[in-house]
Amino acid sequence: MARTDQDIIRISIRQSLEVDQALGIKVLPIPKAIVASIGRPRKSSTAGGLPGASTDDRAIALRRLDEEQVKGCQKCTLCQTRTNTVFGQGHPLARLVFVGEAPGFDEDQQGLAFVGRAGQLLTDMIEKGMKLKRADVFICNVLKCRPPNNRTPATDEITACSPYLFEQLRILQPEVICALGAPAAQTLLNTKESIGRLRGRFHDFYISGSPGIGPSVPLMPTFHPAYLLRSPGEKGKAWEDLKKIMIKLGLPLT
Ligand code: URA
Ligand code: SF4
Repeated sequence: MARTDQDIIRISIRQSLEVDQALGIKVLPIPKAIVASIGRPRKSSTAGGLPGASTDDRAIALRRLDEEQVKGCQKCTLCQTRTNTVFGQGHPLARLVFVGEAPGFDEDQQGLAFVGRAGQLLTDMIEKGMKLKRADVFICNVLKCRPPNNRTPATDEITACSPYLFEQLRILQPEVICALGAPAAQTLLNTKESIGRLRGRFHDFYISGSPGIGPSVPLMPTFHPAYLLRSPGEKGKAWEDLKKIMIKLGLPLT
């Protein structure tokens, strides 16, 4: 896998930050020029991704998946009640991908992920908390169609729809995945463990879909923003999880 200078700088910063953290050393100041570049999406055409994949290759692969497979999908009964499919949106070279549960009312109306009230909180977590631009990450869901009355996704719906999510992640090959809430974490990690027990530490997500086979991506489960709106007392725990992601990405915590 070809690594650019930027990747190497990023990896070494990340490793030194992890060592500093492990030793309890306060994070060292990072030169301004590097800080300015590390939050951004990858620049390289081959940064750990599909062979030869550039922004354009990834954007095209994502658009084809959406237009040729998702938009007309009738693999489960949710196709009968949806207004729009919601593929998800963001930067094709995003280093960080957020995965939610399913579109809600606003998302179904607009065809865009996380544009309602939970979406506003997610935007604040990304922009005010992590100091990233929302347009620089990628945001999608396990289900691409809204379940009536926002009920929890059914097992057969997840089985029908999750191959699209796995394909999105295979195209994007992010450096870190953040699973928002139990359905996303349980689907991606193939477990029934509760979100309360899964959150707070990195798990291995295998791009191949088969545990232990091929490369893996660190995945942090955390609480869903809609849950945080109902239980604001849990926001501190979610922020602890996001800070672990920032450290993993080599982002400054201050
Ligand atoms: N909740 C989700 O899980 N996803 C959205 O896109 C909006 C709300
Ligand atoms: Fe297809 Fe997924 Fe929509 Fe079901 S939820 S119809 S599987 S796109």
